[in-house]
Amino acid sequence: MRSSLPPASLLISVGALLFTSPACAQSRDAEDIYAQFCASCHGANLAGGSAPSMLDDEWVHGGTDADIARVITEGALDQGMPAWGPALTDAEIRALVVYLRERRAGYVRRPDSLPMPDSEHVFNTSAQRYRIETVIDDIDTPWSLNWLPDGTMLVTEKSGTLRLFRDGELSPAIMDTPWVDSSGQAGLLEVAPHPDYARNGWIYLTFSDPQVNAAGDNVSFTKVVRGRISDGTWTDEEVIFAADVELYRRPGGPHYGSRIAFDDHGYIYFSIGDRGSSEHAQDLGRPNGKIHRLHDDGRVPADNPFVHEPGAIASIWSYGHRNPQGLDIDPQDGRLWDTEHGPRGGDELNIIEKGHNYGWPVITYGMNYNGTPITAETARDGMDQPVTHWTPSIAVCGIDFYEGNAFPAWKGNLLVTALAQQHVRRVVIEAGQVVEQEVIFEGFGRCRDVASGPDGTIYIALNGPNRVVRLVPVE
Ligand code: HEC
Repeated sequence: MRSSLPPASLLISVGALLFTSPACAQSRDAEDIYAQFCASCHGANLAGGSAPSMLDDEWVHGGTDADIARVITEGALDQGMPAWGPALTDAEIRALVVYLRERRAGYVRRPDSLPMPDSEHVFNTSAQRYRIETVIDDIDTPWSLNWLPDGTMLVTEKSGTLRLFRDGELSPAIMDTPWVDSSGQAGLLEVAPHPDYARNGWIYLTFSDPQVNAAGDNVSFTKVVRGRISDGTWTDEEVIFAADVELYRRPGGPHYGSRIAFDDHGYIYFSIGDRGSSEHAQDLGRPNGKIHRLHDDGRVPADNPFVHEPGAIASIWSYGHRNPQGLDIDPQDGRLWDTEHGPRGGDELNIIEKGHNYGWPVITYGMNYNGTPITAETARDGMDQPVTHWTPSIAVCGIDFYEGNAFPAWKGNLLVTALAQQHVRRVVIEAGQVVEQEVIFEGFGRCRDVASGPDGTIYIALNGPNRVVRLVPVE
C-alpha cells in the first residue's frame, strides 16, 4: 500500500526542525524514544532480541516508510508488537522511521557487532576474579544449557535443534526431536536431564508445539516431553504435558515461559507464560500464566492445589504469572524460585508456594510497553508480593543457584540473567530476602541462560551475538 508520506530522506530535516525548535520542546528525540520504548525488545543496538532486528532490511509488514509507520502506530498485537499510536505523536513515529533508516544505513557501512570476549583479560568483581572463555562460537540462539552426569553438555537452539557438546566438539543436531514453532518468541526452549538420568536415561524438553485447531487456525503452545538419546537420535518420546489444542494460542506470539525444575521427591515443575493474554493468568481453566507440578512421568499428583476445583487444570501449582523464564530450587532449603519477565518495569523474583496467586495482571510494578498504565495496584490481599522486583526492567531470564566450588565466595548465591540489560547478576539471599546484588558479567550480548558446569565454572548462553561462554576463576 503506497501512501502520501514523504520519503525518509525528507523527514530527516523535518525531524531535525521539530526537535530543535523551542516551540516543540515537548517532542522527544527519536533516539531517546527508541532507547526508552523499543530497545527492550528490538535490542539496544537495534540488532534484535525478543523482536526482529531493525537493521537487516527485512520487513514482514512491508518496507515502505508508510508501512513501517503503520506497524509502529497499530502494532502487531498477536505477534507481541504493541501499538504506539496512543503513546507517541505522529511526528514522533515519523521520526522513529527516519531513525530506523539512519541506523540501517550506518550498519551497512560499518557492521557493528559486540566484541568477542578476550580470553586473557581478567575481570574483577567484589569477591572473585575471572577470565571469560568462549566455549561455543558457532551456534544459533542458544536457549538452555544443562549437563549429563558424564560431563556432556546439552544445549537447545531456539530454532529447534538439540545438540550435545563434549570434548570441545558440538554434535550435529540430534535427529527426530519434536517439530517446533520457532517464530517470534517460540522455539525449542528448555532441556533438562532427569535427576536420576544415570539410571533411567530420560531427558526432558519444553517447546512451542505447532498445531491446527478445530477452526483450522495455526496455533502453538508450550508442551513438555521426555525422551532418550540413542545413536544421535531422539527416541522413546513420552508426553509429560500437552494442553487441549483449543486452548493453544496464535503461533509465534509472546510468552511461552518456559523452564523446568525437579525437586527431591520425584516432582517436575515447569512454567508457561501468559501467551500475551494477561487475563488468562488469573483463570484456573487456562494453562497459560501458570507454574505446573506433575510426577516425573506426567501423572497429576493427588495433592496438587486445584485437583478438586471444578474446571481448573489439575497440573496448576501457582498462578498469576506473566512470563516465568527462570525456575530453580534452592538446594539449601528446597524452596522453588522463579524470575518473571515483567511488562515495562516489574520484572519479578518470587518464592513459589503451593496454590498461591502472584497477581499478574491485577497487581504489578510495571506498565504497558507504550507507557500507558496497566493498573495502579502493586499489592492486594491474597496475592503474593515479589521478593524483589527490577524496575526499570532488566528483562530477566534464566536463573541458577550456584552450587559449584570454582567460585567459593559465590556459593549459594542466585545467578540471574538479563536480556535487555545484557548482564548476569549475583543475588545474595538470606532467610528469603535479597540482601545484596552485584552485576558480575556484562557487555557481551543478551544473557539467556546461566548454569554451573560440572567443574563449577559458570556457563552463560548469549544471544546476539550467539555464543556459549564460561567464567573461569583466576587465582
Ligand atoms: C514488547 C516488545 C516490543 C516492543 C517494546 C517494540 N516492539 Fe516492535 N515488534 C515486536 C515484535 C514481536 C515484532 C514482530 C511482529 C511480527 O512478526 O509481526 C515487532 C515488529 C516491529 C516492526 C515491524 C518489523 C517488520 O518486519 O515489518 C517495526 C517497524 C517495529 N516493531 C518497530 C518498533 C518500534 C519503533 C518500537 C518502539 C516504539 C517497537 N517496535 C517496540 C515487539 C516489540
